[in-house]
Amino acid sequence: MKFFVDTADIADIKDLASTGMLDGVTTNPSLIAKSGRNFIEVVSEICTIVEGPVSAEVTALDHATMLKEGHKLAQLAPNIAVKVPLTWDGLKTCKVLSDEGIMVNVTLCFSANQALLAAKAGATFISPFIGRLDDINLDGLELIEEIRTIYDNYGFDTEILAASIRTANHVKDVALIGADVATVPPAVLRGLIAHPLTDKGLEQFLADWQKTGQKIL
Ligand code: G3P
Repeated sequence: MKFFVDTADIADIKDLASTGMLDGVTTNPSLIAKSGRNFIEVVSEICTIVEGPVSAEVTALDHATMLKEGHKLAQLAPNIAVKVPLTWDGLKTCKVLSDEGIMVNVTLCFSANQALLAAKAGATFISPFIGRLDDINLDGLELIEEIRTIYDNYGFDTEILAASIRTANHVKDVALIGADVATVPPAVLRGLIAHPLTDKGLEQFLADWQKTGQKIL
């Protein structure tokens, strides 16, 4: 499973990219607002830090303007994935851009039928929002399962990009289901490594090593 980080914070992206395990970045208008940076500038900068797909979202609602915005964003860097909302205008835009060879991430997916439409429109990625479904007492993981089944039934190559991930368990669960990508907030991504027995075991090993009086270097 690929790891994308869900942020527009340059320091976080640089830090996580340095692990060699970061496969891409997703942004959205809320994350851009949180960064306090100019959209075009910050997205262009992110594209120089990571080689993998960097999602940048259009903000127009009509197909013609969305397409213009998509073309502008796609010209920023070869690794831009244009993010469009799951509306008919968004899907029309997805079809045109993907036919042109531009990566498209269809966002704000909350149902399996929406995901089916996005795949038919040639989306590179579909972004089902797990946490926001859980927030309203629906089952985000069940949606990932349904989309996995539908895409496998028909051999769609649209990648399932599990989004709105809030916990380490979400990451494990979408990996078990077979999501292609998880886009994860920086703090949750860093937290995946945590285990008290790892800390305790390391402490014990170091204490015993010191007793030997040896050094490797
Ligand atoms: O980038 C889309 C998605 O990951 C947003 O997550 O936590 O705002 O629902 P959240």
